[in-house]
Amino acid sequence: MKKKILVISSANIDFVQNVERLPFAGETIIEKGGSYAYTPGGKGANSALAFSKFGADCVFVCKLGADANGARLKSLYKSAGIDTRFMIEDNEHPTGLASIVVEKGGKNRITVFPGANDHITAEDLEDAFTCYPDAVYLQFEICDEAVLAACKLASERNIPVFVDAAPARCDYPLDKLGNVEIFSPNETECRIYTGISPDTEESALRAAIRLRNMVSAKYIVIKLGDRGAFMFDGKEYFVYPSENVIPVDTTAAGDVFTAVMVYSYVQNGNIHSAIRMANMAAAISVTRAGASTSIPTLKEVLEFREKKKTTELKIKPITEARAKAEAEKTADAE
Ligand code: RIB
Repeated sequence: MKKKILVISSANIDFVQNVERLPFAGETIIEKGGSYAYTPGGKGANSALAFSKFGADCVFVCKLGADANGARLKSLYKSAGIDTRFMIEDNEHPTGLASIVVEKGGKNRITVFPGANDHITAEDLEDAFTCYPDAVYLQFEICDEAVLAACKLASERNIPVFVDAAPARCDYPLDKLGNVEIFSPNETECRIYTGISPDTEESALRAAIRLRNMVSAKYIVIKLGDRGAFMFDGKEYFVYPSENVIPVDTTAAGDVFTAVMVYSYVQNGNIHSAIRMANMAAAISVTRAGASTSIPTLKEVLEFREKKKTTELKIKPITEARAKAEAEKTADAE
């Protein structure tokens, strides 16, 4: 059965610049081979679009400016099948804007000008809960007041809360979130919250234990970029290696990962298969440019998984044949 996910988060227009390298202070670079574009983004919107592309019933609450960017985004969400009934228009602040610089190799640097995202109030959210969601999905790209109000409204209704802990601030009031089903930072966010870089299994475990003391979460899932993901459930930890792909642009890979993980977990309750599916979706997303433009569909992820299986099956007989040949060579020599 289709689950209903209520995403309460951010929406931005991304000003994306693809460059060879960043200028030094005081330097001007003429970027002849580069490109720029204004594209739909925002951590919340990227996640809402991922839920929708996977076939979830997605209700997205965000605050947009009463401007051309806001109108463009709302119409995009509608045409993607997202329920936009509870979106709010802000007459005083502009639609959020993110300035994104993507260097060769796909690494990005993002500065967000939150605009209307920073002005969602507790009252703005109450109506949205009348949609009876199966899960509430949050990120920290909107004001704290909105996140904490959403947690309270969800807890009063016994609705599980999922948190993609991005972006991070070391003074974020994590202790006020209440019970969270999955709490998922990336490696940079993990370091900001805990002071520990999850560079090794041992340090990832120490960071996850520290996070579990800061947030009442059932699962801590740390996104490790091209190293995959790390999960701690309070008793055991698991490492899920990433898929092997050549990255073009890592923007929104984390948004895609967390949304797909939550989609899959809400559907069947299996955290391991949810993380594996999220790894595959993130792998596809980094091979594509842009934020919302890089999100794969469920069908594409299933095809990716199928192709992987086929490759694995193909490799096996070759390995066996080699082993046989090696054994025969050894026998001949004796
Ligand atoms: O996670 C990627 C997103 O971060 C971008 O789309 C940008 O809008 C910022 O919110």
